[in-house]
Amino acid sequence: MSLTAVVHDAAEVVTIAEDGELGVYEEAAIAVEDGEVVRVGPTGPVTREFPPENATHAVDATGKAAVPGFVDPHTHALFAGDRSDEFEAKLRGKTYQEILEDGGGILRTVRDTREASDERLLDNLVGHLDTMLAHGTTTVEVKSGYGLDTETELRMLEIIDRADDQHPVDLVPTFMGAHAVPQDRETDDYVEEVVAEQIPAVESQGVARFCDVFCEEGVFDVAQSRRVLEAGRDAGLTPKVHAEELSHIGGTKLAAEIGAASADHLLHATAEDIAALVESDVVPVLLPGTAFGLGAAYADARAFLDAGADVAIATDFNPNCHSQSMGFATSLACVEMGMTPAEALVASTANAASALDLADDVGTLQQGAPGDVAVIDAPSYVHVPYNFGVNTVETVLKAGEVVHRA
Ligand code: NIG
Ligand code: FE
Repeated sequence: MSLTAVVHDAAEVVTIAEDGELGVYEEAAIAVEDGEVVRVGPTGPVTREFPPENATHAVDATGKAAVPGFVDPHTHALFAGDRSDEFEAKLRGKTYQEILEDGGGILRTVRDTREASDERLLDNLVGHLDTMLAHGTTTVEVKSGYGLDTETELRMLEIIDRADDQHPVDLVPTFMGAHAVPQDRETDDYVEEVVAEQIPAVESQGVARFCDVFCEEGVFDVAQSRRVLEAGRDAGLTPKVHAEELSHIGGTKLAAEIGAASADHLLHATAEDIAALVESDVVPVLLPGTAFGLGAAYADARAFLDAGADVAIATDFNPNCHSQSMGFATSLACVEMGMTPAEALVASTANAASALDLADDVGTLQQGAPGDVAVIDAPSYVHVPYNFGVNTVETVLKAGEVVHRA
């Protein structure tokens, strides 16, 4: 047994219990042994049993709050190119769909990603992971889906796997060949390619854990989405669905029927959809940054919470939603979606981990959970959403190792 870390004298340590309730310990400490949390409690007793001077990493958190490292359960963080001009076009009134119809949007990123070298792509992804880590994210889901052909989809998953090996942030890879229909292709014909060619290749590569689909008007309808997700499931990939983002076509019910790990976006979800998700234990992943960036109406987080759903939030970091910060997502969740800071913290840690089917109490700081900790440069976790537009994270530990200091 080796004492990896002791975070001591924190103004506050926040843990998350199985029922989703916060455990807030004042003047507290966390001891991490062999990468796992062994004790959380008042600094005196914890440091007597686990003296900081015996630890590989002793972190003095006087006056600061320590929370579970954030889990970002929905990103498209691997891409090449720059779409900042589309941000300006949207500000002038162009819609996301109009940009896509003009060959911009996802299809433009597909062109740039196909042309980029592996080294360029890896470098881009690692740069974004560095930013995420500095903002307290210790686990992140990353989707493929800017290849839209077997070769580039496999290349993306391979690069996600390489980044996972070399970066302290844990990566959860998702295959998303059904992210858009490539230019000059019929949708049914492309779905056939995803099912008959891409999914078998992804299965033999063995990197991806989930299979996601953009179930949206003008992209993949419910029947096409179902086909892709069933084929993915047969290949061992757990389904996820981009559902009711720009319109309402039934992706949420599909997620419930197929037993998806999560249904994501949900801006246009109805009360019936919400009931179906709760009934079938599908985690709703809300992405307030996307609504912010599009100037669209936000998902109705309160309706999900009041129905008893374990709501998660994510950044949706992608060229159309250019923020790597879970802290900013929590600010939007509180101010624009009516969540409390406590709900936003649970949504960005423990519930986000459930959306990724992560075992081992990831995102909780419970005994036995990984020692993934974000130390906030403020006395309470409330400062994460309260202090928007700046980064409140000072020190980050991954499995008890200090992996970032501001
Ligand atoms: O989650 N909705 C589809 N996919 C992304 C956007 C990707 C892009 O525009 O490049 C999303 O918002
Ligand atoms: Fe997305």
